[in-house]
Amino acid sequence: MIRTNEWKSNAAITGIGSYVPERRLTNDDLAAMVDTNDEWIVRRTGIRERRIAAPDEFSSHLAVKAAQQLLARYAKEAADIDAVLVATTTPDTPFPSVASRVQRALGIRACLAFDLNAACAGFVAALQAAGGLLQTGAYRKVLVIGVETLSKITDYSDRSTCILFGDGAGAVLLESAPEGAFIASDAMTDGSGGGSVYAAGLSTEWDGQPLAGGGKIVQNGREVYKWAVSHVPEGVRRMLDKVGLEPRELDWFVPHSANLRMIEAMCERLELPAEKALYSLTHYGNTSAASIPLALDLAVREGRLAAGHLVALYGFGSGLSQAGLLLRWTLKSPQK
Ligand SMILES: CC(C)(COP(=O)(O)OP(=O)(O)OC[C@H]1O[C@@H](n2cnc3c(N)ncnc32)[C@H](O)[C@@H]1OP(=O)(O)O)[C@@H](O)C(=O)NCCC(=O)NCCS
Repeated sequence: MIRTNEWKSNAAITGIGSYVPERRLTNDDLAAMVDTNDEWIVRRTGIRERRIAAPDEFSSHLAVKAAQQLLARYAKEAADIDAVLVATTTPDTPFPSVASRVQRALGIRACLAFDLNAACAGFVAALQAAGGLLQTGAYRKVLVIGVETLSKITDYSDRSTCILFGDGAGAVLLESAPEGAFIASDAMTDGSGGGSVYAAGLSTEWDGQPLAGGGKIVQNGREVYKWAVSHVPEGVRRMLDKVGLEPRELDWFVPHSANLRMIEAMCERLELPAEKALYSLTHYGNTSAASIPLALDLAVREGRLAAGHLVALYGFGSGLSQAGLLLRWTLKSPQK
């Protein structure tokens, strides 16, 4: 069930960009919709507001804007990209993929393009997949995007879920480089936990049980909380052990931004100061596959994340799925 591997990688991150929709949904806005309040939400989750896509704005629109920002900031050419991987649980349509919409919008000539769904572990799963593509030598520049429009599958009458989720996109460019930056990976999937957090689709059944919610997000928050707080630190330690490193040697820990209390509990278990965690939930909420690239982009903009830093990324969520990646940050400051 668990895979932990050391990487002989040639993959390095050479660009990053992000995009969030304009509309803000604050805790006070939610308090006018359901029985909740700002104090409860901030104390239990750390979330203050989230961004909400317009009715005619879908994941591909956010993904394209994040990618365009990356290309402009780091003076990269779309034409040079030879694979587009999009991690999302909320594609505009089941098919064509968001990745093929991105290919078209960016005018990329010849590339592999596909979507990937590992829920909130999706972005790190996509980085692992992209690292593998680069390793073959057949691909040299891979665009990896994490994007969600979770507001479209959120039940705004359920106070235990609607306070959490938001919309956004983050993109990174991976290129083959003589000194690869990926150091180790971790992965674990436990399909027996599939009923803990889900959205029904073509099927409304899981393991013989009916799935509620009519396609909106349903979760057992307490169960997911307990699972993540114990499993994520174990996964981070497995990756570090594999290459003989200790948690205290990390410059940054970037877990999926689900809930600040969860992140603080994970840091405690790793004996890491909470200040070493990078997250995007304060102003964006839980953006699933987008949360980790959004956190990385915020940290780059704030000048906190710099070339040479040792970073542990760790995604976790529905599946139940978890995916980690230990890497050396190689990206210099944006050119623009
Ligand atoms: C959802 C979550 C914030 C709830 O926080 P919690 O501290 O676990 O709260 P509980 O579920 O134990 O509920 C405590 C009480 O608060 C109430 N409550 C729930 N949501 C509330 C809200 N928005 N405002 C006010 N009260 C709320 C509950 O009804 C419950 O009341 P009761 O004791 O009278 O039954 C938290 O469990 C969580 O973040 N879990 C992880 C979810 C997650 O990460 N999901 C995505 C997977 S990546």
